[in-house]
Amino acid sequence: MAYTLPSAEEKSNYVEQKFDEIAKKYDHFNDVITFGMHRYWKKFVVRQTGLRPGDHCLDLCCGTGDIAREVLRQHPLCIVTGLDFSEEMLKIAESKNSKNSGIQFLLGDAMNIPFPDANFDAVTIGYGLRNVQNLNGCLQEILRVLKPGGVMVCLDVGKVRLPVIAELNNFYFFRIVPLIGNWLMPGQEMFHYLPHSSLEYPNQELLKHLMLEAGFQEAEIHDFVFGASTVHVAYKPTNNSK
Ligand SMILES: C[S@@+](CC[C@H](N)C(=O)[O-])C[C@H]1O[C@@H](n2cnc3c(N)ncnc32)[C@H](O)[C@@H]1O
Repeated sequence: MAYTLPSAEEKSNYVEQKFDEIAKKYDHFNDVITFGMHRYWKKFVVRQTGLRPGDHCLDLCCGTGDIAREVLRQHPLCIVTGLDFSEEMLKIAESKNSKNSGIQFLLGDAMNIPFPDANFDAVTIGYGLRNVQNLNGCLQEILRVLKPGGVMVCLDVGKVRLPVIAELNNFYFFRIVPLIGNWLMPGQEMFHYLPHSSLEYPNQELLKHLMLEAGFQEAEIHDFVFGASTVHVAYKPTNNSK
């Protein structure tokens, strides 16, 4: 199938609508295409937050809420908020959330986070930054809502560095993944959006550079599966930092 990415102007509406459409199959799709490894990567993301009892964590672009739930599992005394603009993804998140869990799921836009400045100790974002309309604008929003010294942990697809493995990865991502998507939801073009959106997404080093340029103080890269999956851990400077 020939596929064209939405324009920058269309991207937000497109992404919101398409995640609404695939919400019921999203978790299953993720399990199949990553062979379940996304669960391990999300646990790793939460381990990087260094949250302490009473801290407040925002899971941005929370989707069906995997990372938000993992935050609470690892840090039961933290306050967790999940934010997403897809009502259907949030409905699944709510349905998987036990009533007293303490996670608040909110409908909202990552480009305009409905919280005051310096509100969160940590912001997690899984497969979200690639989907927002303006990556730099979103990084600025995350910095704004983080407390000084707060941490952002970002999980997304990365670029494989070894040429042979990169070829195999591209074959899997561009040929097999859409087939799996089509098997789960025949005719759904969102499963073509996933690999194509990765083409426009910066590689690990460039993303690190963009984070530092946006105002984060440090950014560490943790690669998995030869870099096909990657986690960035970046810190907002403390008030005393230069
Ligand atoms: C690939 S899913 C990731 C879900 C979840 N974080 C995970 O790791 O499985 C991307 C999510 O980002 C959400 N999203 C994309 N752009 C957004 C924005 N500007 N504001 C809020 N949510 C957004 C989509 O609705 C979707 O639920």
